[in-house]
Amino acid sequence: MQKNDIGVIGMAVMGRNLSLNIANHGYHVSIFNRTATKTKQMIAKNNHKNIFPYFQIQDFVNSLSSPKCILLMVKSGKPTDETISTIIPYLNSGDIIIDGGNSFYKDTIVRYQLLLKHEIRFIGSGISGGEYGALTGPAIMPGGSKKAYDIIFPILKKISAKFNEEPCVSYVGPDGAGHYVKMVHNGIEYADMQLISETYCILKKLLNLSNKNISKIFDTWNQGELNSYLIEITKNIFTKKDNSGEYLIDIILDEAVGKGTGKWTCQEALSLNQPLNIITESVFARYLSSLKSQRMLASQILAGPNIAPIVYNKEDFIEKLRQALYLSKIIAYTQGFAQLSSASKKYYWNLNCSNIAKIFRSGCIIQSSCLHEIVKIYKYDNVIINLLLSPIFQEIANKYQHSLREVVSYSIMQGISIPAFSSAMTYYDGYRTEKSSANLIQAQRDYFGAHTYKRYDKAGIYHTNWIKE
Ligand code: 6PG
Repeated sequence: MQKNDIGVIGMAVMGRNLSLNIANHGYHVSIFNRTATKTKQMIAKNNHKNIFPYFQIQDFVNSLSSPKCILLMVKSGKPTDETISTIIPYLNSGDIIIDGGNSFYKDTIVRYQLLLKHEIRFIGSGISGGEYGALTGPAIMPGGSKKAYDIIFPILKKISAKFNEEPCVSYVGPDGAGHYVKMVHNGIEYADMQLISETYCILKKLLNLSNKNISKIFDTWNQGELNSYLIEITKNIFTKKDNSGEYLIDIILDEAVGKGTGKWTCQEALSLNQPLNIITESVFARYLSSLKSQRMLASQILAGPNIAPIVYNKEDFIEKLRQALYLSKIIAYTQGFAQLSSASKKYYWNLNCSNIAKIFRSGCIIQSSCLHEIVKIYKYDNVIINLLLSPIFQEIANKYQHSLREVVSYSIMQGISIPAFSSAMTYYDGYRTEKSSANLIQAQRDYFGAHTYKRYDKAGIYHTNWIKE
């Protein structure tokens, strides 16, 4: 009996499209879903000669050649654990499970250890690219068993996105490293999206531009250093009309939600003492946006300035906005990569940031031309302490910081909320401050709690009796 090359569990959109992608590359794919209806729907819609549906989990697992390779594309959390428990009894030593969902990396570590006991090899892999990317070529961030990775690499290589013919997949690191990298990818995605949406707000409210003109501006920017997937789709969003002839963007409710990966990135930043303020503000901005009814009430009660739109030198301001967006974006990526480096040290993952940036260059949501620079910077120095200190980014920062300053101060004076832009500015100024005001914090801590402090003039740890001395 013919055995299939790989099995995919979970026939929601990502699982469906990844199955098709694998099948399109000539592999025989077994598919399974907890509820049979979805599997039937998938087959009814895509009757692919290389896809074989199964309705009993045992039949599904037995249909695979050895070592059996099973890709899980189910909801993160409990559903992933339940699916793993269902298939364990049918697997043999050396078989492989790949979790391609957005799992929390600590869950991945636990699963890796559990499966090790059963001699089952486990890979926790970030997969980015959304519905379309899954079908045509996603960016893939596998972590966990290196042996399993070597076995499945030929399939991953074929189905992944390519950048200059290089596959956007490479082994990231042990246990939870793959899902960690995907989590930070998503954090950067949140920051990128928030910065673009603040830019939209400024173009609309401060420059009074129409959707059509906003689209044109994003289109122009997409030809230059801001070139990215998110700018590309943003440009398209502003021209889309619904059946009534209205621009869709004007009808969509301004309450942004999320599935949790952005929040996890910030929680991790706090536990690593990482100043990840743009991503964190981007998560908070979504929470604030969800307080719609409160915002509506507050808009009637709380005072602010009347917006005075920019009338003169619009072109100049638009260029400053472009520079502010690019610098802020670089700072967001800088913060994300600094967190990866910090986690790499803490968990002994030995992450190669240049290779991670290479994976991000195509197929994923944050693909953008600034990643080409990041690849080069880390290739030259994988332990650089901060990307802003690299010659290429310091030059951009020194050239564009004034524009960011102007955009931030002007927007604030006009009462426009710009949490991501202003946190980029705050981080930038805080990072380049040689002597900060933290000496006062230390003095206060020591005053009320005898928490001690260090001094400039001599080594050691000191405490002062502030009241008596
Ligand atoms: C990707 C995306 C994807 C993510 C969505 C939703 O890389 O393809 O990151 O994995 O789940 O973008 O994220 P939120 O619902 O949290 O915005």
